[in-house]
Amino acid sequence: MILFKKAEDLYNYIADQQKKGKKAGFVPTMGALHEGHLSLIRQAGLENDLTVCSIFVNPTQFNDPADFDKYPITLEKDIAMLTGAGCHLLFLPSVAEMYPDGIKARMHYDLGFLETRLEGPFRPGHFQGVCMVVHRLLEIVHPDNLYLGQKDFQQCMVITRLTEIMGINDKTTIRICPTLRESDGLAMSSRNMRLSGQERQTAPVIYRTLLYIKNNIQPGDITGLQQKAVTDLELAGFRVDYADIADANTLAPVTNWDGRQPLVALVAAFLNEVRLIDNLLLS
Ligand code: PAF
Repeated sequence: MILFKKAEDLYNYIADQQKKGKKAGFVPTMGALHEGHLSLIRQAGLENDLTVCSIFVNPTQFNDPADFDKYPITLEKDIAMLTGAGCHLLFLPSVAEMYPDGIKARMHYDLGFLETRLEGPFRPGHFQGVCMVVHRLLEIVHPDNLYLGQKDFQQCMVITRLTEIMGINDKTTIRICPTLRESDGLAMSSRNMRLSGQERQTAPVIYRTLLYIKNNIQPGDITGLQQKAVTDLELAGFRVDYADIADANTLAPVTNWDGRQPLVALVAAFLNEVRLIDNLLLS
């Protein structure tokens, strides 16, 4: 695996390979890698000639500075894991390399309704920060395929919108890969490393709640099911930001289901200081 720290070097290397007809698959990450990330790397390996990963803990997407400070960094382990998974190129930029005009020089991305839902109100500015960093990464890597995890369901929609805003949606195909789970159902996440033993025991309640929704949803009023999900999570010890059922294509809220509309159930909830998110397609 070749390590790059300079955007220009990586840009030129990939452009050179693409001129030779090679396809590049890109997996952007913030490090603290786990099997979920590696599944994206392996998928990229199956579908491209060149697998590119970036590790950059992006300061502009953290609305809570304490969350940024505590974000786990496991770089040596990450490099070993990426090498084992067959990654070819790793981009490890500095903040100055990613934000040459400084992190305050912000462009506004028109995400419309998407930014007003779910994560939006709880993490003001978060998706603007995601767009800033992914915009820059996509300009540097200019991948043929971009690999994202379904665990960040709303982020997948935001990045799809970003590629439209950038006008590259016909050049870069977004590939959304399934969430990987621990044997007890907990969605793999870098944040799981921050859970205490007791919190780790409680964390799979999120998945069990999502499964309950999936197994019990019926056409008609679904607000009772949604309210039960909030109550079950609170009883287990979570502080719930949201437990919602939404249209899987638009994220519009759904209160009365016609039995056909594609749905997704989404949860964001804290166990003490650690915020976990998960989702499940219902149909
Ligand atoms: O999902 C993540 O790890 C981050 O939001 C991303 C896409 C790498 C941007 O910093």
